[in-house]
Amino acid sequence: MKNLIKKLVESIGPSGYESDVRRLVQEEITDFADELRTDAMGSLIARKGTKKGNGMRIMLSAHLDEIGLVASHIDEKGFIRFSTLGGVYPRNCPGGRVRFMSGVEGVIGVERLESSEHNITIEHLYIDVGAANREDCPVKIGEVAAFHRPMLDLGNRIAAKSIDDRIGVAILIETLRQIKESPHELYFVFSVQEEVGLRGAGTAAYALDPELGLAVDVTLTGDTPKGPKMEVSLGKGPAIKIRDGRMLSDPRLIQHLVQAAQNAGLPYQLEILEGGTTDASAIQISRAGVPAGCISVPCRYVHSPSEMVDYNDVQNAVKLLVNVLSNPIQLDKSAA
Ligand code: CO
Ligand code: ZN
Repeated sequence: MKNLIKKLVESIGPSGYESDVRRLVQEEITDFADELRTDAMGSLIARKGTKKGNGMRIMLSAHLDEIGLVASHIDEKGFIRFSTLGGVYPRNCPGGRVRFMSGVEGVIGVERLESSEHNITIEHLYIDVGAANREDCPVKIGEVAAFHRPMLDLGNRIAAKSIDDRIGVAILIETLRQIKESPHELYFVFSVQEEVGLRGAGTAAYALDPELGLAVDVTLTGDTPKGPKMEVSLGKGPAIKIRDGRMLSDPRLIQHLVQAAQNAGLPYQLEILEGGTTDASAIQISRAGVPAGCISVPCRYVHSPSEMVDYNDVQNAVKLLVNVLSNPIQLDKSAA
């Protein structure tokens, strides 16, 4: 799976500009899906199987897009100022490299701060593509870029830009490939514009009208020096979401996922995240409401150019999903 992950994280697809990544995913899944289409927003939707017996119509979602930058002003000397697509933290930027959709690459510089107490903001930052002046600058206003960095394979751990959420994309691709028999009608949605407000998942959920929704995305961990106060750690298994900033997972679905992990002997953790959310929250409140949950991959340094996950967590997330989706799902009504 590492080759697939490498291809995905080294391609570029900031919110609204996911076509390269979408093409890549399409190539990977075309032999495994019963039906493939791209919707008006650009989300790629793959159907596998039809409803049999007590099966359900299930929407799975992982987002194609990553956080990015948009050129907003170019000065006389050819330095590019930018606005952001999604949650780009200014402190993660200086010294980093970016790549525009056109292939132009550059480095992010930072102005001299007035005092050491000053926090770096986006206004302090600029992109230097080596241009001598404005006329010489190969980037035009409105062009879009993403962090640029090769994947780092550390054995059990992998670090790269856009692990959020290409790791979820890789997990859904692998799950789709491995599922043989299922009572369910499964829709694998590779959604767009998650980082700017869950936009693609919302419209896809409206179209598909699912009976159950499950997102696969990253979550934070509490296992780094002075990290957030969180129980989730790298390497202790995929995390079953209890809540995040915008969603309470359906308790019946939590129970079902926990039971499935226990029965299959797979490690798992329970995730309680204070801020941030996933496609699952958009699915949950689409139309008249959908029971929804999320399987999260524990990830350090989220929204930096070097997001880190544990490869075992990734593989165990695939195993859990294949197991859950291959079997009937009974949501215990008494627990609702
Ligand atoms: Co994100
Ligand atoms: Zn994400």
